[in-house]
Amino acid sequence: MVPLKRRKLVPSHAGNTGTNLSGEKVPAKFPQVVLFLLERKMGASRRAFLSQLGRKKGFQVEEMLSKSVTHLISENNSGAEVRAWLDSQDQKPAHLLDISWYTESMREGHPVEILDRHKLQDQRINEAEVEVFSVPSYACQRRTTLDNHNTTLTDALSLLAENAELSDEEGRGVAFRRAAAVLKALPKPVTSMSQLRGLPCLGEHSLRVVKDILENGASSEAESTKQSGRYNALKALTGIFGVGAKTADRWIREGIRSLQQLQDSGQTLNRAQQAGLEHYDDINQPVTKAEADAIGEIVERAVVSVLPGAQMSLIGGFRRGKLTGHDVDFLITHPEEGREVGLMPKVVARLESQGFLLYQKTTRNSYLESNDGPARPASNIDRFERCFSIFKLAKEEKRGATQPETLTENGVQILQTKPARHKPWRAVRVDLVVSPISQFAFALLGWTGSKLFERELRRWAGHEKAMSLSSHALYDNKQISESDVGGGDICTSWFGVHPTVREERLTRLLSPYRRTKRSPI
Ligand code: CTP
Ligand code: MN
Ligand code: MN
Repeated sequence: MVPLKRRKLVPSHAGNTGTNLSGEKVPAKFPQVVLFLLERKMGASRRAFLSQLGRKKGFQVEEMLSKSVTHLISENNSGAEVRAWLDSQDQKPAHLLDISWYTESMREGHPVEILDRHKLQDQRINEAEVEVFSVPSYACQRRTTLDNHNTTLTDALSLLAENAELSDEEGRGVAFRRAAAVLKALPKPVTSMSQLRGLPCLGEHSLRVVKDILENGASSEAESTKQSGRYNALKALTGIFGVGAKTADRWIREGIRSLQQLQDSGQTLNRAQQAGLEHYDDINQPVTKAEADAIGEIVERAVVSVLPGAQMSLIGGFRRGKLTGHDVDFLITHPEEGREVGLMPKVVARLESQGFLLYQKTTRNSYLESNDGPARPASNIDRFERCFSIFKLAKEEKRGATQPETLTENGVQILQTKPARHKPWRAVRVDLVVSPISQFAFALLGWTGSKLFERELRRWAGHEKAMSLSSHALYDNKQISESDVGGGDICTSWFGVHPTVREERLTRLLSPYRRTKRSPI
């Protein structure tokens, strides 16, 4: 703000002028009051009308926010919203006032005394009063909660992350996921950009998205992505089980943008994609916890019938406490090392003979066969024996539960191509993994997710503890480089310990902040 003294020295015809109805400059009646009306939520035409009214009454009303503006007038905006907007303008008028002050002043014909009720909030923003958030930088160091206070922000960022992933831009996807996870961990809704100062993982791009939402209520980038033909085509095509970003991209380049166009194109589909297309609607409908539990009972019965004493755990999103998921994941083991060998084909054969599997593909355990051997995991992808399947589950009403109603993801309605057919069952994606008991703790931790949490846990282990973590083992890198024969497996001494105890210890070792029951990130 220009100091009063200096403004007084400015000749009235230069700065402190108003404009009469004929558009002529006239000396302002109240040279110490320079007004600016915020267009946001007021609208352009109302702002023009009110500005003209003020000028007619001898007030100086500026078109642009500048250093000389002393009073900012706003309608229907909260103080926090105006402050967020001002942050982007780098200007701080002395008074942030509600429209009521303006209309009363118009009525009186002079600037009325500023009362508390006129103030949007204390205009002398005390930096210390703004609650600045702070969170640790690795997701695995944070306590995450089921209460997300910033869903508008995280929905937009997750949508941009998803779009990046679907476009095969993994780096950008991870950056948006990290930013969303940080905002999800905050204890309160974000109201001002200044609260985010110093938070980790919020890059320039993510901050731009947040700012857009704080100022305008929505992210223009997220909104235009949501509307874009390419995003919608990618989402529709990758919604087919067995179709990844690369295949979808190839089809789109060949002019295929919808399921109908895919069917008409005569493209050759593999077995997984054929099954994916056939059960498209079911698979794209979220799985409920009740459905997961029902499938769990069926699979567990099959597991113990082919190998008595075998144990099964619910993993993935449902283990984290999510209420719905895109699939159901189970980890199977046996307390006696080695008894789990050959288990998967038997379980699959059993389920198949009972008519529960609409599709299945089993991949065997390649952990001991790989070139890099078990000593050091080369990538984050584990090599357990696993089965990707499509399960045939009797409809919920048959089991006395109700259907889910929410069909949204990142705030986007999940598309349904056809009206629900009246069939007494639904298709559900189910993943089965078998691990030997000696690796169970790592498998359980590694398959609980979320994907970002696992990635961060490994990054933390590597960067902060000089250890390599996978779903098979935890290695001390220093010991490995000394012997280079896998002698660094610091967990071999835990083999006699019950697996769940082992996982707890491992969890504690890796992340003192982690709670066992976490919400999805
Ligand atoms: N996972 C893995 N390797 C894969 C697939 C999954 O290690 N090829 C692990 C990941 O750690 C992931 C977990 O299995 O976190 C579950 O994966 P997924 O079912 O894809 O995700 P969820 O977190 O269960 O989410 P949703 O509820 O949507 O299924
Ligand atoms: Mn899952
Ligand atoms: Mn899965």
